[in-house]
Amino acid sequence: MWPQHGGNSTAIQNLLTMKGIDEGSDLLDFSANLNPLGIPDTVLQSMQKSLLKKSSVYPDPAYIEERGILASIEDVKTENIWLANGGAEAIFLVAHMFKGKRAGIFQPAFSEYERACRIHQLHIKHFSYEDLIESEAFIQDTDLLFLCRPNNPTGEMLPEDKIVRLLETAKQAGQYIVVDEAFVHFSGSSLAHLLGAFPNLILLRSLTKIFAVPGIRLGYVLAHEQIIRKLESLSVPWSVNAMALSVIHALPDTKDFLIAAKEWLAEEWQYVRNELLKMKFQVSDTTVNFYLLRDPLLQNHEQLLLFLAGEGILVRHTVNFPLIEGSAIRLAVRTREENMVLLKALRKWRNTSC
Ligand SMILES: Cc1ncc(COP(=O)(O)O)c(C=O)c1O
Repeated sequence: MWPQHGGNSTAIQNLLTMKGIDEGSDLLDFSANLNPLGIPDTVLQSMQKSLLKKSSVYPDPAYIEERGILASIEDVKTENIWLANGGAEAIFLVAHMFKGKRAGIFQPAFSEYERACRIHQLHIKHFSYEDLIESEAFIQDTDLLFLCRPNNPTGEMLPEDKIVRLLETAKQAGQYIVVDEAFVHFSGSSLAHLLGAFPNLILLRSLTKIFAVPGIRLGYVLAHEQIIRKLESLSVPWSVNAMALSVIHALPDTKDFLIAAKEWLAEEWQYVRNELLKMKFQVSDTTVNFYLLRDPLLQNHEQLLLFLAGEGILVRHTVNFPLIEGSAIRLAVRTREENMVLLKALRKWRNTSC
């Protein structure tokens, strides 16, 4: 059984052992899509301070101060923000809010939308991005739509004008559009400026990717205040802990880090992409720190995944992404040194597979 997510090295190592592959104990992890620049110093210092000072007191269950900090950064009101224990909890909260209703999910997409909808008994319909490009008529039978922008697993960015048209149609029909912007810090193109015009727009964010703190768990929702009040009423008290809250306190001091991350990504992706194209691999048109890689000589990419594991490289399978289903692998853009190890292994694959 393939692990549900990237970054799950224990599950993948068990699987490789089952398949008889001795990959050694230290795999280079290209399966998780975290910022390889690591945790910014300012965030780390804020968390250390909070561990010492805040561990012995309950956080404010309404998170007023932290929502205020985010509100000024996002240029919205405190009432338009709710915090969650990771983007994952934000997804589940929204699904809970629409319990029993009809959800559409744009595929291929992050698997937790479907799981959250199932758990909260929503009726699910899957749509392709082509459905969206061709017409908006398809949304008739849904109460809300989940879409991921930039998308996981492709890294691609749905054009804003398409979403605006969709929001207009949905607004007239009383439908909601949920846009997961978990990776928006890498691409810099959020839909937050549309919140004022569209009370039916719900944005989901994660800070675990850009600041490389998945163990800390921090996400938030940006939406109309009525939606935020409802989400608050459904939340487990104190689900966001003091350490996670301290990440928000450091946010005003991360501006340079965020600029540096985007600059690093632009340069690194250009290098990696050029090298991959030279080797005749196909890559998705990504705007973020991961991409889909296809070997046109392969149908199913399990063979390539296992080969790379044998070279000490862990990649993300795509078996549980509808419409992709193993026909590609997902890789993170990592540091130059690590990317060179990957490229070397892929060259070896090319030389042995041709
Ligand atoms: C698109 C997307 N949204 C949300 C999440 C959840 O992130 P978090 O760690 O903040 O719960 C992930 C994690 O991989 C993701 O890929």
